[in-house]
Amino acid sequence: MREPVAGERLDQYQLGELLARSGMASIFRATDTATGQTVALKIPHPQLESDAIFFERFKREEEIGQRLDHANVVKVLTPRGKSRMYIAMEYVDGRSLRSIIQADAPLPPERALDVARQVTEALVYLHRHGVVHRDVKPENILLTADGKVKILDFGIALNETKRRLTWTGLSATLGTPDYMAPEQIGGRRGDGRTDVYAVGTMLYEMLTKNLPFNTTNASALLRAKANEDPRPPSYYQPKIDPALEAIAMRAIQRVPHDRYQSAEALLADLRDPPAALARAPEAPHPRRGTTRVLRRAARPALVLAVLAGLGALVYVSSRHAEPPAAAPARAR
Ligand SMILES: Nc1ncnc2c1ncn2[C@@H]1O[C@H](COP(=O)(O)OP(=O)(O)O)[C@@H](O)[C@H]1O
Ligand SMILES: [Mg+2]
Repeated sequence: MREPVAGERLDQYQLGELLARSGMASIFRATDTATGQTVALKIPHPQLESDAIFFERFKREEEIGQRLDHANVVKVLTPRGKSRMYIAMEYVDGRSLRSIIQADAPLPPERALDVARQVTEALVYLHRHGVVHRDVKPENILLTADGKVKILDFGIALNETKRRLTWTGLSATLGTPDYMAPEQIGGRRGDGRTDVYAVGTMLYEMLTKNLPFNTTNASALLRAKANEDPRPPSYYQPKIDPALEAIAMRAIQRVPHDRYQSAEALLADLRDPPAALARAPEAPHPRRGTTRVLRRAARPALVLAVLAGLGALVYVSSRHAEPPAAAPARAR
């Protein structure tokens, strides 16, 4: 198979503009010649088509997508017949949250809350269907002109209902370090609280234009995530609404047990921020207990952390044409 080009026909689709090119795939806009529907086709690079692990993962990405039907999750279609590997999706006419943050952050609190709420609504739905996304980040979130959020990219999602089958070979391909929860850095597969962490990080970034850890390089970031407390958003935005600060901080706690325990719990506070403040005094986990748990968890996890971190970096830089998130994020 060769690299497809705009203007070609692929099964029932007529390829249009190349929308994006990552380390894994090219994403084209296309038209369904039967229905006239505009779609997006994610077509893996030809050299990956013979890679058995990639094939399994790509097939799973498609299957997970096809099972899901939610207003805030990109719809994955089922083509009549496929002469090569690709995923057909509804086309989302919009901008990525990454480009919105770059251009407009800090966002007005209402806007940041609205995006976080829609993302979390999608996550509540995913988690109920046994799927942990594990790669929630601004590059994988598109916003339409009328403000509707669509989550994309189930490339490393975990299907809880088929855990054994789907975990194989995935540990080296975890998300970017910036949005990755500490337990993912430690090599764990993560659960719903892993996605909660990523939403908290994005909320923080939308509100402050900064990330919770301001480190100079990726290994320092991994260490900081495992051992240090994030700066509160008010460090960057002294006038931030304390309720929003409380929500972001609770979502990005290092120890999953100290976070919102589910996307539902996070969503409840995003829908009613003052309630988060009312609850805050009960929330803190005993500091000493937390530290002890962390130290115990940190020792065996340390070696894994470094390995997984390096793996993730290699993965990130090979997967994306844009610069890896870690480096520019530090500079922002
Ligand atoms: N359905 C879609 N509609 C519009 N643009 C899309 C769609 N799917 C992907 N894209 C574009 O392609 C980019 C990469 O897609 P993604 O599925 O995240 O690939 P990768 O797994 O390589 O990260 C997205 O950031 C977005 O800009
Ligand atoms: Mg992506």
